[in-house]
Amino acid sequence: MHTIFLKGDAVVMIDQTRLPGSLTLHTCETVECLIEAIQSLRVRGAPALGAAGAYGVFLSAIAHRHRTHEDFVRAVSADADAIASARPTAVNLSWGVDRQRNVFLAVATPPEAVTALRQEAERIAEEDVRTNRRLGKAGAALIESGDGILTHCNAGALACVGYGTALGVVRAAVEEGKRIHVYVDETRPLCQGSRLTAWELQEEGIPATLITDSMAGYLMSTGRIHKVVVGADRIAANGDVANKIGTYGVAVLARHHGIPFYVAAPVSTIDYALSDGSGIPIEERDPDEVRRWQGVLNAPPEIDVLNPAFDVTPAYLISSIITEEGVATPPFEASLRRFKP
Ligand code: MRU
Repeated sequence: MHTIFLKGDAVVMIDQTRLPGSLTLHTCETVECLIEAIQSLRVRGAPALGAAGAYGVFLSAIAHRHRTHEDFVRAVSADADAIASARPTAVNLSWGVDRQRNVFLAVATPPEAVTALRQEAERIAEEDVRTNRRLGKAGAALIESGDGILTHCNAGALACVGYGTALGVVRAAVEEGKRIHVYVDETRPLCQGSRLTAWELQEEGIPATLITDSMAGYLMSTGRIHKVVVGADRIAANGDVANKIGTYGVAVLARHHGIPFYVAAPVSTIDYALSDGSGIPIEERDPDEVRRWQGVLNAPPEIDVLNPAFDVTPAYLISSIITEEGVATPPFEASLRRFKP
């Protein structure tokens, strides 16, 4: 099943806030509903956000299709802006919205726009799965039978329309018959690792062990981790990578232990307009995500809290960036430029 898809004129998604307890679908018929779903992480992960953004513009077009062409363009443009800014870090969200912007600005009437936006959203979703399969195959060449692989957050099928990026590499290696074991960082505060990655791997029967984030260094020191593979939310032109908070620490630990650190992401995650990672906007989320766990207080209710959802791993800590166009190696500025669309 795709993580997000169209049913009639509605957008349906797996509600990732309900996993692993229940596999529930959430349906959105309005832009407001979709923005809520993005902000509350019912749909999350950079490539899935790209598809969600595209589907959101389609929902807007449905809502405004009876307006004059001029009013239609004004209303859909305003909705597109609101969708693109629902979360700031993953560049795929605005990438998906911008692909749709090019579509509705190019057609003559609102009904034509509705048809063209539906087609483009479906194309983006289909492309995502194909892209991840290509990326997975390219990355699997770096994995050897017997490897212990550490991953952080969820860069699996749930973070995409299907197949996954970091977990796409894992899936492709397993499909090639390689015997691997995945160590899954819990990924506090929202536990995308324990709730989503552990669930996905278990569903597929891929051997996996869940650890808390603070155990990664110990496991590396005991020789159980041979490679780290993570996803990305935005990659600057020089190879600096924004990904889930805690990724930077894992990369520092990997360098200390001489372990390769791989980033797997589609080319749509590369923001060629940013020369380095210092310009990547880092989302700050609700302090209660840290103070509480699933509503239960875990700390003094008034304690000051920091809750950046992402961090930036500098390019010098990254061994390779795996994309559907091939594997980039340092210096990344030159190697990533080759993949520029
Ligand atoms: O806050 P989230 O759950 O959307 O964060 C997701 C991540 O950081 C993923 O690692 C990243 O989007 C890559 S997904 C293929």
